[in-house]
Amino acid sequence: MVDMNLVIPSIEQMAPYEAGKPLATLERELGVSNAIKLASNENPLGPSPRALQAMLKAMHDSHRYPDAAAWALRERLSERLGMPMNEIIHGNGSSEVLELALRTFVGQGQHVIFAEPSFVMYRMICMAAGVAFTAVPLRDLTHDLEAMTAAITPKTRMIFIANPNNPTGTYVARAALEQLLRNVDPEVVVVVDEAYTEYAEAPDFPNALSLRGLRERLIVTRTFSKIYGLAAQRIGYAVGPAPMIDYMNRVRPPFNVGTLGQVAALAALDDEEHVRASQELNQDERTRLQNALTSLGLACAPSQANFVYVDCKRPARPIYESLLRKGVIVRPVPAATALRITVGLPAENYRLLAALSEVLNA
Ligand SMILES: Cc1ncc(COP(=O)(O)O)c(C=O)c1O
Repeated sequence: MVDMNLVIPSIEQMAPYEAGKPLATLERELGVSNAIKLASNENPLGPSPRALQAMLKAMHDSHRYPDAAAWALRERLSERLGMPMNEIIHGNGSSEVLELALRTFVGQGQHVIFAEPSFVMYRMICMAAGVAFTAVPLRDLTHDLEAMTAAITPKTRMIFIANPNNPTGTYVARAALEQLLRNVDPEVVVVVDEAYTEYAEAPDFPNALSLRGLRERLIVTRTFSKIYGLAAQRIGYAVGPAPMIDYMNRVRPPFNVGTLGQVAALAALDDEEHVRASQELNQDERTRLQNALTSLGLACAPSQANFVYVDCKRPARPIYESLLRKGVIVRPVPAATALRITVGLPAENYRLLAALSEVLNA
């Protein structure tokens, strides 16, 4: 029996976030070794060597609290982005800044819009806050901005747009995003989540930071978890108007990002070579992976990110489970016949393809 005096109803209905299985867990559960993880859109090249050096050095100061303001990192971001420091807030991963935005600007009785399927955290943070939402189905695996705009009610306070989208890897083009930013009621906060922006290469892929002139209430979030290879350090940031960032800072826990994360992010930002190598590897391997998946008779969504959304044209859960038993971890997605596969190192992608081909032919 559910005790409604204990927990708010939307939390009662929540399921915990289903994270990609850590390698050690899978190996233990299935008795396999040398498993590979292509499930969480991490950078297969790992962190920048400069970030590793910075963390080793900073470890000696582990008895000190981290810089609550992440001053050095925000200063460097401010130079790099050409935005004042008071327009930048750091978070424990970009997941935290997304949640801070919601908790700061959306109250009980108000309403949020995001796409479905998209990053699952949007739904989770709304449910955790007891905030109503509309999840607008993608059209052709892409954000349906027309339907999302039509879903706006007088109660709507926030819209999340992941660009590129997770799990599909598809994107909203510049003209469409500009139109949305111009036309949506100025009261609504638009959050553009650019976790994978560094991987995008389409000529009309928009940098939302360059569109800030189009609307006051625009928040752009980025992360060090993806191309910068620092997922374990939990660091991301948001850029928005100074008064909005000021409100979010009132809600932000003071020591939300540890010292290692801060110094690693700072060093990683300066390692442009590592970023370039990560982009090149991803482009080459994503193309190869998509071609090979297509020759296996599967359908890939066009991806601007470091993962591929693949329609297996048959129930995907058994394929996912068979791959697990072969030591290959991919990601099931809400659609019954699809999987999301992170682009790995060449050897990892070969192994995935060989395993998948065996599973499909079994
Ligand atoms: C679209 C999108 N946004 C944000 C994140 C959050 O990443 P983090 O909290 O590690 O910055 C992810 C992670 O998978 C994502 O796919």
